[in-house]
Amino acid sequence: MTPSEAWTALDAAAEAASETRIAELFTLEPERLQRLTVAAPGLTLDLSKQSWTLAGLDATLDLARASDVEGARAALYGGRPVNTSEGRAVLHMALRAPPEDGFEAQGRPVMGEVEAVRQAMRRFAGEVRSGAARGATGKPFRAVLHIGIGGSDLGPRLLWDSLKPLKPEIDLRFVANVDGSEFALATADLDPAETLVVIVSKTFSTQETLANAEAARAWLSDTLGAEGARAHLAAVSSALDKTSAFGIASDRVFGFWDWVGGRYSLWSAVSLSVAIALGWEAFAALHAGARTMDAHFRDTPLERNAPVLLALAQIFNRDGLDRRARSVVPYAHRLRRLPAFLQQLEMESNGKRVGVDGRPVGRATAPVVFGDEGANVQHAYFQQMHQGPDVVPLEFVAVREPMDGPADMHRKLLANAIAQAEALMVGRSEAEVRDELAAKGMAPAEIDILAPQKTFPGDRPSTTILLDRLDAQTLGALIALYEHKTFVEGVIWGINSFDQWGVELGKTLAGRVLVELEGGPAGDHDPSTATMIGRLKG
Ligand code: F6P
Repeated sequence: MTPSEAWTALDAAAEAASETRIAELFTLEPERLQRLTVAAPGLTLDLSKQSWTLAGLDATLDLARASDVEGARAALYGGRPVNTSEGRAVLHMALRAPPEDGFEAQGRPVMGEVEAVRQAMRRFAGEVRSGAARGATGKPFRAVLHIGIGGSDLGPRLLWDSLKPLKPEIDLRFVANVDGSEFALATADLDPAETLVVIVSKTFSTQETLANAEAARAWLSDTLGAEGARAHLAAVSSALDKTSAFGIASDRVFGFWDWVGGRYSLWSAVSLSVAIALGWEAFAALHAGARTMDAHFRDTPLERNAPVLLALAQIFNRDGLDRRARSVVPYAHRLRRLPAFLQQLEMESNGKRVGVDGRPVGRATAPVVFGDEGANVQHAYFQQMHQGPDVVPLEFVAVREPMDGPADMHRKLLANAIAQAEALMVGRSEAEVRDELAAKGMAPAEIDILAPQKTFPGDRPSTTILLDRLDAQTLGALIALYEHKTFVEGVIWGINSFDQWGVELGKTLAGRVLVELEGGPAGDHDPSTATMIGRLKG
């Protein structure tokens, strides 16, 4: 089957599926629950409340085969330059692999350098935690200030929020934005003499990060002097010339490579500050968990492969049924940053309309991803999920075991997650609402007005991902699940998931506008932009 034939079959299957309500499919398809429930490392994936029929599932599997997902996966693992526009291999799996694995980037073995940085990082993290590495005044480090943005921020923040102990030995703070408020709030109660600043930037040329790095250096220098400040700086970057020019001692610089994309980099030294604050064991467990998902993705047939099925459900919704958004809702306070992490992972990877061949993809690609923690969202935007004009597929992420607090609270949280998925699918018919209102004695004319407003259309699809528990291992598996899912979608859409040209134009223009805000000559702008610049200068 050619990809074009597979797309045509998918469209037909989606049209057919839209004629039957999801809830009815459980009766019509006795194998539905079994085929659409997958056990993967650390989690269970339930795709049975999605809109697809089993014929629809088969159509997406045919599409995956026609798109040679398996060949693309082999190319990825084989270190071939799958980031075609930049001519780079993509090997974040190597960052969590044991040293004996044979990963190669375009034929060049990488595990030697991966292991060297890993050991340097482990040593340094251990020294900071034990107090063997100290600041300029001889005090041990009690706080780490992590400076970075995008992929140099979102992953480490997710790790820390998810796993941080209730009483951390090291106080880890993050600063991302080029907004003095964030820096001021993060450092207001920190003592520079007890703070290690870790500057994380793959390119070491990101404006926001460099501005914060300079602010941090000044903050340290005010108390410790310029030379003293140096003892409080560390960096993570693939631009070692730039970290050295910034004045960071070479034994405090931890490298990574061009085959690690920013949004796939949390497995590298990018998470140095988290490894310091959580301890090495947790970081190693994160890697171990991701490895189990890597093996699952690499070795499991497509029809039982969790990342593949998660990707196919999205493709069915986006391309088959024109659903333009997806909401990810972790029912776990500790996972509340997962939606923000996924926004970068999925939208920076696959938010593209041109394929690897430079031609329009011709199909819809990444939906808008948004979300926040449940149950809070039920009291915020879920009204629209249940009764709004558009169908937005939901993704519930729940955790079987409570991590903190009493079991009865956790049961309430889980009850809400399960009930929402059920309510979205089943809905509440107008006839039922009418009967209820009539039983209460409401007049028919009033019922005519109120019943439609109280009706839930239902048939709104959702996926549930149930983690066995929330720990470093399952978190590693969960993040790797989403990484591989994103890759599979990119392959099927024929786009390069590993570049991000779309972020460049704004950066260039911001540089030009800044020159003008600082008194430079006026540039050539549209009237709205020119007036706004004038307003800010005036
Ligand atoms: O602007 C987008 C981006 O390049 C992301 O891809 C990246 O994660 C982020 O900026 C930060 O980049 P760096 O680590 O080079 O500072």
